Amino acid sequence: MNKERKLIIAGNWKMNKTVAEALALVKGLKLELTNVREVDIVVCPPFTALAEVSKAILDSDLRLGAQNMSEHNFGAFTGEIAAGHLKEFFVRYVILGHSERRQHQKESDELIAKKARAAHAAALRPIVCVGETLAEREGGLMEKVLETQVRGSLAGLTSEQMGETILAYEPVWAIGTGRTATAAQAQEAHAFLRGRLAAMFDAGLARRVRIQYGGSVKPSNARELMEQPDVDGALVGGAALDVRSFSDIIKNSI
Ligand code: PGA
Repeated sequence: MNKERKLIIAGNWKMNKTVAEALALVKGLKLELTNVREVDIVVCPPFTALAEVSKAILDSDLRLGAQNMSEHNFGAFTGEIAAGHLKEFFVRYVILGHSERRQHQKESDELIAKKARAAHAAALRPIVCVGETLAEREGGLMEKVLETQVRGSLAGLTSEQMGETILAYEPVWAIGTGRTATAAQAQEAHAFLRGRLAAMFDAGLARRVRIQYGGSVKPSNARELMEQPDVDGALVGGAALDVRSFSDIIKNSI
């Protein structure tokens, strides 16, 4: 597939995989995905597996991501993980503002923006997630919600930082439900988000920013989604936990 922006496909393992299971998964992915250079491939294990996975992928093209980080630097924040901790394991990406954290940890756009700025200060690339709930979509509020989330969660980023930020559109109703947005629904939301980026920054930058789709991505729907002009990759949950399904998503996207 020849696209203007390089595809980036990330596996969000969520609160799954022991260290041994994580190592088995990346071992399998390395075998399946050798020589795949057309796509940036990122794995986001739980914190407890970062050290071992980091070592295991050193000799591969897989890149490491984390699922969250603190907005603070090192200090008295019990139970938190700083960007500096992630850097020790050569983490390059960090998922921020996932809808599960927005929902369960009550993360606000303001907090997510602070985390995004802290990530950039440590030269980590944030994957900032936005997306509407079913009630919001059915109430005709999708655009309003997305606009508020992008404006709030990306507040204070410089153009240069935005250029190194990945945006992930993840409609909440499609996450873990098996109910994927149709390719047309994804394209519509992505085009809207790109338009917002153009308004907040500039059109040239908006054209460069990669926007991932997330929500029940699987081998059977990956290609159609990735074919959409404004869909530049995927953030994959459930299907990223298995060597076969994650590698098939990547292969089917090329
Ligand atoms: P899912 O999760 O692929 O299991 O729907 C996606 C995500 O939450 O990032």
